[in-house]
Amino acid sequence: MNSQRLHIAIQKSGRLAERSLELIGSAGYRLTKSASDLAYSAENAPIDLWCLRDDDIPTFVADGVADLGIVGRNVLAERAAGGGNGLHEVMALGFGRCRLSIATPAGFDYRGPQSLQGLRIATTYPNLLARYLAEAGIEASIVTMRGAVEVAPRLKLADAICDLVSTGATLEANGLVAQTTILESEAVLVRSTRKLDAGVERVAEILESRFRGVAASQDAKYVMMNAPRSALARIAEILPGAGAPTVLALAGRDDLVAVHAVCQESVFWETLEALKEAGASAILVLPIEKMM
Ligand code: PRP
Ligand code: ZN
Repeated sequence: MNSQRLHIAIQKSGRLAERSLELIGSAGYRLTKSASDLAYSAENAPIDLWCLRDDDIPTFVADGVADLGIVGRNVLAERAAGGGNGLHEVMALGFGRCRLSIATPAGFDYRGPQSLQGLRIATTYPNLLARYLAEAGIEASIVTMRGAVEVAPRLKLADAICDLVSTGATLEANGLVAQTTILESEAVLVRSTRKLDAGVERVAEILESRFRGVAASQDAKYVMMNAPRSALARIAEILPGAGAPTVLALAGRDDLVAVHAVCQESVFWETLEALKEAGASAILVLPIEKMM
C-alpha cells in the first residue's frame, strides 16, 4: 500500500455509488477505473478510491485502512448507536437523502409510538431502533435481518419494519405505510479519527475544501437585474442568502442601477416574481460552476 496516497472508501453499488463518483469528478479529480472494477485512481492527484459494501465502509475508515469514506448517515449512526467509534462526520454532501422510518401494514391502526408496544419489528438497523424504542419507553422485539426487510410482515416474521424510505416505492409495493421517522439521512463524508501523514492530510484538506465548494455552488446562482435605486433595500431583502449585492451604475441613468448578487440558496420563480414586484427588470439567473 502506498502510504503517500489518500484512500477513500465509496459505495460499490446502490443509491450513493454513482453520485459519489460524480461528486469526486465535479471536484476536479479525473478517475481511471482499475481492471477489477473495485477501485479507481485519480490521474491528477494522489487519491485512490475503493468500492465497498456500504455497511463495511465505517469499519474500514475507523480502522484506518481508508482515510475517508462516503456513506449514508444511517450507516454511520447505526455503528455509533452500537458504541462504535474511530471516525466522524466531516460534512453532509447533499445527495442520497432518505429517512429511516418505522412502517406497518396498511391496515394497522397506528396511534403513535405506543402502538408499537409488544410488536416484532424487523430491521437492518437494530441499534438505532433499540435506541428509539428505549427513548420512547416502548418494549418491542427487534428482528434483525440482513436485507429484504420489507417482506418480513408478509412472511409473518414481523408485525412492522424499520427501514430506509427514499421514494416510498418499496413500502408501497409491499403494502406498508411509514408511520414515524427515527433518522433523517443523506450521504456524508466521514474521516478516520487517526492522524494522517502530513502529505496525505494536505490532500484530504484540499479535497474537503473542493467538496465544500461543489456543495455550495449546487444551489448557488448568480443573479443580475436592473432596478430603481430606491428599491435597493427591498431587493436585498428578497435575494436568498446573498449578503450585500454589488451595485453598478448604468450609463445615462441616474435612477436605475444594475444589481449583481451570488445567492447561496435556491432561487425560485416566486423569488423572481417578488423582485419584479419590487421594481426589478431584465432579471437573469445564471448557474455557478465553481466557488471557493
Ligand atoms: C433501501 C431500503 C429499501 C429501499 C427504499 O435499500 O432497504 O429497500 O432502499 O427505497 P424507496 O423508498 O425509494 O423504494 P438500499 O437501496 O439503501 O440498499 P441497502 O439498504 O440494502 O443497502
Ligand atoms: Zn447496505
